[in-house]
Amino acid sequence: MTHYLSRRAFAATAALLPVACAPAGRSILNAATPPAAAGPANPLVRQRADAQIFRHDDGYYYMTGSVPEYDRLVLRRSRTLAGLSTAEEVVLWRHQASGPMSGFIWAPELHLIDGRWIVYFAAGPSGGGEDVFRIRTYAVVCDGPDPMEGRWAVLGRFETPWDSFNLDSTVFSHRGTRYFAWAQREPGIETNSNLYIAPLATPLTLAAKPARLTVPTLDWEIRGFKVAEAPAVLHRNGRLFMTYSASATDARYCLGLLTIDEDANLMDPRAWTKSPTPVFTSCPETSVYGPGHNSFTVDEQGRDILVYHGRDYEAIEGDPLFNPDRHTRIQRLYYDADGTPDFGVPVGNGPLPDRFASLARPGAWLAHENGRAFVGAAALAATQFRTAPAPGGGIHLSPILMPSHHLVARPDGSITIAPKDASTPLPNADIFERVDGGAADRVRFLSRAYPGRAIAAIGEALRLAPAAEAVSIWVAI
Ligand code: AHR
Repeated sequence: MTHYLSRRAFAATAALLPVACAPAGRSILNAATPPAAAGPANPLVRQRADAQIFRHDDGYYYMTGSVPEYDRLVLRRSRTLAGLSTAEEVVLWRHQASGPMSGFIWAPELHLIDGRWIVYFAAGPSGGGEDVFRIRTYAVVCDGPDPMEGRWAVLGRFETPWDSFNLDSTVFSHRGTRYFAWAQREPGIETNSNLYIAPLATPLTLAAKPARLTVPTLDWEIRGFKVAEAPAVLHRNGRLFMTYSASATDARYCLGLLTIDEDANLMDPRAWTKSPTPVFTSCPETSVYGPGHNSFTVDEQGRDILVYHGRDYEAIEGDPLFNPDRHTRIQRLYYDADGTPDFGVPVGNGPLPDRFASLARPGAWLAHENGRAFVGAAALAATQFRTAPAPGGGIHLSPILMPSHHLVARPDGSITIAPKDASTPLPNADIFERVDGGAADRVRFLSRAYPGRAIAAIGEALRLAPAAEAVSIWVAI
């Protein structure tokens, strides 16, 4: 059988409300924002590719993923997303000494199915040559209620309609049916892998003939290799969104998106629409390359989070599949006005950024374009700012697309974007105090250099204004 697997070798803010007045005697300007617990920072976990993170109803986040050695299944858990970075990682199962599961172990996913913890994964034989890419999908099952403590044993192999390269399975339920989605090479179609879906009869058998959802044919899907893999499903705003990963696993790796109405027949390929362009790609400005193989979770406030892997650098020596630096990353997932996910760009290393909407100008964001800061509408990535700690307390505000720059207050009251290492007109003109804005998620940015003044939305201009004024209040979203 011809192995096309060389790739594997190498597959609204609220309307202007009366500004909340502090209890008599306490100035809202002194209401220090409680120190935020250290939130997550990227990379969240180094050298864990294909990460699956989900928040279970026991209150823990569980995370698994591929390890660079591709020789074992690992699992970690934490009460917080940030805690996953340092959480203990246990080995659930190691590849076997010989046979079909003695080689590569790829892209595990943990699922609780009818009360049993099951991990699906792709595995191949050892032994060298092309045979190591006889990759098939298997599952192991835990013998107890705690996946971190129980003993794991092989449940079996996923029975697909073709005995061919298959991987990257995921399980989700919709309207009472449990579905299996996966990537597979189909005989007669000259690609590395396509995406399929089918209802499950048992954890490893299908209840119906699979539907083929997409074949990689678009330019951005066939760069290096013809790949559609790593399906992940999100049900929001009356639709199901299925992301998938495309092209070679180097900097050309990216996310595509299939969408279907929640009332449609998921088994009808015609009911799914495919984005003609990738929805998430490498970003030189933030220095993240090859973002892909994603999953979805929510943060501690219930807000959608995109989980994915990506490298810090573009050029790779050797086969990307054996480069260990696909790190697990997370970021907020936002939505367009019509409820479609807006993936923006990979936000880059460091604490997760926020977006700041003007309380005084609903619909207007703290934003930048062509090196100029302003208040208004802009693409998602141009409204994401990272607050980094400043010397002596306070913070710098840095656009994620210009990580070597940050905001600086000027004597004329203007606020500009300047290189972090540039001199400022006054000492500390690039330092602000993030303080309580009088209600949840409302903040002010007090200027350290110009006391009593704060970053404000004055029409479309970003300027200093009296800190007590509504124009100085921002909603962190
Ligand atoms: O990381 C190993 C494999 O490479 C994953 O299963 C696939 O999604 C990726 O391309």
